Amino acid sequence: MPESRTLTTSDFPACLALCRSAGWNQLEADWRALLASEPRGCIGIEVDGCVVSTATAIINPAGIGWIGMVLTLPEHRGRGYASQLLQESIGFLETRGVATIKLDATALGEPLYRKLGFVDEAPIERWRREPGPCAAAPLSGLYAGALRHAAIPIEAVVQSSEAWAACRDGANARYIGPCYANSPESAESAVRGLIAQYPDRPFFWDLFPAHAACDIAVRLGFQPARRLLRMVRGRVTATPPETFAIAGFEWG
Ligand SMILES: CC(C)(COP(=O)(O)OP(=O)(O)OC[C@H]1O[C@@H](n2cnc3c(N)ncnc32)[C@H](O)[C@@H]1OP(=O)(O)O)[C@@H](O)C(=O)NCCC(=O)NCCS
Repeated sequence: MPESRTLTTSDFPACLALCRSAGWNQLEADWRALLASEPRGCIGIEVDGCVVSTATAIINPAGIGWIGMVLTLPEHRGRGYASQLLQESIGFLETRGVATIKLDATALGEPLYRKLGFVDEAPIERWRREPGPCAAAPLSGLYAGALRHAAIPIEAVVQSSEAWAACRDGANARYIGPCYANSPESAESAVRGLIAQYPDRPFFWDLFPAHAACDIAVRLGFQPARRLLRMVRGRVTATPPETFAIAGFEWG
């Protein structure tokens, strides 16, 4: 088994090749932000001079360890690379004193995580909106809620006294998130404000099927595109209800 090592900026082309091989949305800015957030938590396995498998482990401001970017190039799968990186990621987070580790699992990843002690928390869905205009009214005020994930690569922010929402670019669609709001009405206004700025782009929004965010997504023309499973290892913690959009599958 080849040894793992921490990723560096020179690995970005390989990291992006991994994302494209799986059809994922992340760009170089996303990898850059993960590395900046937790340099020793971003690891990979190199074969013949090129990284072929990755995993990232960060600790979010709520103290939850988050594993993401679990990827192996198709031609290198089934050799235990992802399992090895996952075990190392869990070890890294545990030595940092983290009591809760979470991740958003695809169907391919789910069996690996289950073997390593992760259990179901809740389904989480990716919804997609095709390009098109969106009515939005100007907002005012500064949201006073706690902003999590200061490290994520945010490109546009809309906020009011009641809501804060951000979006960033992606390979397949612009990504909405995070969004925190005191009410569904204020969340809808903020998300509308983001979409209205990019009417020519499709959007992704990752949300929990039972959350009020779904009703907003329907009104704004989003449709469910795929379903993942949020899984947890260790102490179970709830997602705060004011989270109308997560920060990303790789950030939580
Ligand atoms: C999920 C993924 C990362 C697994 O990577 P991997 O390096 O092949 O994983 P491993 O080699 O550690 O395999 C883990 C287990 O899955 C099995 N497995 C891996 N690939 C398989 C395949 N193509 N068919 C059947 N079983 C497979 C292995 O036998 C192993 O089982 P074991 O522990 O009982 O021996 C990889 O399939 C991938 O990149 N998928 C696309 C991206 C994705 O969905 N990532 C997960 C995000 S949550």
